Amino acid sequence: MENSWNQRYAQEEYVYGTEPNGFFKEELLKLQPGRILFPAEGEGRNAVYAATQGWKVVAFDSSFEAKKKAEKLALKNNVTIDYQISTIEDFENEEKSFDAIVLIYVHTDNREENHRKLVKYLKPGRKLIIEGFSKNQLENNSGGPRNLSMLLSVEELKSDFKTMNDIQFSELDIELNEGLLHIGKASVIRVIATK
Ligand SMILES: C[S@@+](CC[C@H](N)C(=O)[O-])C[C@H]1O[C@@H](n2cnc3c(N)ncnc32)[C@H](O)[C@@H]1O
Repeated sequence: MENSWNQRYAQEEYVYGTEPNGFFKEELLKLQPGRILFPAEGEGRNAVYAATQGWKVVAFDSSFEAKKKAEKLALKNNVTIDYQISTIEDFENEEKSFDAIVLIYVHTDNREENHRKLVKYLKPGRKLIIEGFSKNQLENNSGGPRNLSMLLSVEELKSDFKTMNDIQFSELDIELNEGLLHIGKASVIRVIATK
C-alpha cells in the first residue's frame, strides 16, 4: 500500500492538486482557528490551506513522498505545518487535544477502528469534517479504491461515530475536479459532526 502511494506521489505534479477540497474549505471557514489534525493528508493541500487561515496544523500520512510534497507546498505558502510519517493505526497523540479533525478521501482497511481511535483526539464540543467516496463510487471512474469494503456508507459511519453528539450526513453525486486523479462524476458522502 505504502509503496504504491510513494510511486504515485514521486512526480513533480500534485496529483490531487494544491487547492483545498471545496467542502472542507467551506466548513473550515465557519470555525475559530485552533489546533487541527489531518490524518492521511497526502500532498498537503488541505493542511497548508488551514495553516494559511491561522490554524496550528498537525498532519500525517504513511507515505514519505507525500510528506516531502506537503512540506514543499507549506514553504511555498510561507506557513509551517507539523507533518509526520505514520499510519493511522500507529499514530499516537494525547487525547482531547484537537479543535478539529479532517478526513478527506481517506479510505483504509481498518475504517471502523481508525474512526473510533481518531475521535478520541478531538476535544469535546469540537468538529469532525469528512468527505469521501461512497460505495456507489464503484460505478464511476473518478478515483477511489475499487474495494467495496473501503468505501463509505452512511450506515457504517453512523455506527463508527455513535459517540458523537451531533452528526449531519449528505450523500450526493458531484463533479470532482481535484488535480490529475479526482476528475469527473463522483458519489460522495460528507459528514460534519460535533463531539
Ligand atoms: C486519496 S489520498 C488523499 C490525500 C489527502 N487527504 C487529500 O485530500 O489530498 C489518500 C491518502 O491516504 C494515505 N493512507 C492510506 N492508508 C493510510 C493509513 N492506514 N494510514 C495513513 N495514511 C494512509 C495514502 O498514503 C494517501 O496519501
